[in-house]
Amino acid sequence: MSTAQHEPWWARAVFYQVYPRSFADSDGDGIGDLDGVTSRLDYLDRLGVDALWLSPIMVSPMADHGYDVADPRDVDPLFGGLAAFERLIAAAHERGMKVTTDLVPNHTSSQHPWFQEALAAEPGSAARNRYIFRDGRGPGGSEPPNNWQSVFGGLSWTRIVEPDGTPGQWYLHLFDAEQPDLNWDNPEVFDDLEKTLRFWLERGVDGFRIDVAHGMAKPPGLPDTDVEMRPRMLSDGDPRFNHPDVHEIHRNIRTVMNDFPDAVTIGEVWVFDNASWAEYVRADELHLGFNFRMVRAEYDITDIRDAIENTLAAAALENATPTWTLENHDVVRGPTRYGGLVQARAMALVTLTLPGAVFVYNGQELGLANVELPDEALQDPTWERSGHTVRGRDGCRIPVPWSGDTPPFGFSTSTDTWLPMPPEWAALTVEKQSGDPDSTLTFFQRAIEIRHTRPEFTGNRIEWLDAPRGTLVFGRGDAGLLCMLNTNDRAAPLPDGELILASAPLIGGKLAPHAAAWLVSSVDPRR
Ligand code: NOJ
Repeated sequence: MSTAQHEPWWARAVFYQVYPRSFADSDGDGIGDLDGVTSRLDYLDRLGVDALWLSPIMVSPMADHGYDVADPRDVDPLFGGLAAFERLIAAAHERGMKVTTDLVPNHTSSQHPWFQEALAAEPGSAARNRYIFRDGRGPGGSEPPNNWQSVFGGLSWTRIVEPDGTPGQWYLHLFDAEQPDLNWDNPEVFDDLEKTLRFWLERGVDGFRIDVAHGMAKPPGLPDTDVEMRPRMLSDGDPRFNHPDVHEIHRNIRTVMNDFPDAVTIGEVWVFDNASWAEYVRADELHLGFNFRMVRAEYDITDIRDAIENTLAAAALENATPTWTLENHDVVRGPTRYGGLVQARAMALVTLTLPGAVFVYNGQELGLANVELPDEALQDPTWERSGHTVRGRDGCRIPVPWSGDTPPFGFSTSTDTWLPMPPEWAALTVEKQSGDPDSTLTFFQRAIEIRHTRPEFTGNRIEWLDAPRGTLVFGRGDAGLLCMLNTNDRAAPLPDGELILASAPLIGGKLAPHAAAWLVSSVDPRR
């Protein structure tokens, strides 16, 4: 096992995910930008995070809010362009904070010059061969080449009009029609990604979150499937994802990353079989992989324990660093999922106990819940593509409230924010929560500080202790650190030990309902 001195910086880091549109707006257009992020770095420094992960900032028509990249080697003017990013990197590095950004290798924007070239070229041409164009089936090729559906709903194929005006080939897009999938069997595709990797790494970027890291490789012949392709990226048995050839792509990426040994890759890996998941974090592939078991776990002792055990077991298969995520820009926020802020705070404490890298999503530290938006405010392509049956992810992407008593709460000077902000958030602004000892923000600050500074937060071993029904108690490492979670509606007696933090005030010396606590026990309670 590696010692602290030899550990890479990410091995126990707290990453903070910035959704750039929603973090802070410096130019008053109602959409967040990079100078906005820079202006709030002191806040993030006080929160104690080690690294930022910025959702995509590259040039994009924003059909999927940046996950549709038209120029992977430049920053969108909406976010302030490359100069603003360079300012952010310099200011973050001055504070000792790392900066990672999203990389989107599975697809491009339909506005990418390659795709425009492909549309203007002939079937079978080199330009078409950078994407996945196929003739249709049925009379006149009028039916899609296979039965795959888009993750956002509807077909994963769109038919084009050929340059001569006739109905033409179809192209594959696992997401929106504005996000054509690249053909990873074409070596030009990796060559271009290598340029992109080096472009950002040479500018001081500390690593990449790799979008759809279990996508990219597609099965030869693109066979029809009988599996249910629900509008999500679950891989098990789904031919659209987790094809074994994807690992060669990750090995090639790693070869480039090895020239920048202090930079990290974190793959978005929606794979739930432990052995398959672990393949992504083999020594010559990704440094880290998101394991989404905790996101999927219900607020239920058995589920939570199962998620923790399997996340650890999957990482251990390759001696890799585990990762912990409760929220991101694709999932319903914790307080809504778990049925309350109290529960979400408890779950945050549980994850901050665990060995490995922890990801916090902007606004999670304020205890923001999902917001129900009116139909006309919805922006996520899922809403249109699902024929208005799936509302999509906008409810977890509302801009962050900073100060003041009315929207836009210091997020912007414009009241016309890209998603409307609820007036009830007046009580949840950073300004209101700063310095309030009971606020969720203060709780996160303390938890992160304790995780970073207390000597008991070491060791990769977790041990489950006997615990009353509806509660979990586990120890980490050998220095007596214990975490208890109480999912009952009544208070629960705490194990012996020095209480170092609780997610809610104790009740008569007991752990409050739906709270979690950290204790340090001088007596080993396992004996
Ligand atoms: C996963 C990203 O997290 C999500 O937001 C995006 O829509 C899809 N990949 C497509 O890029």
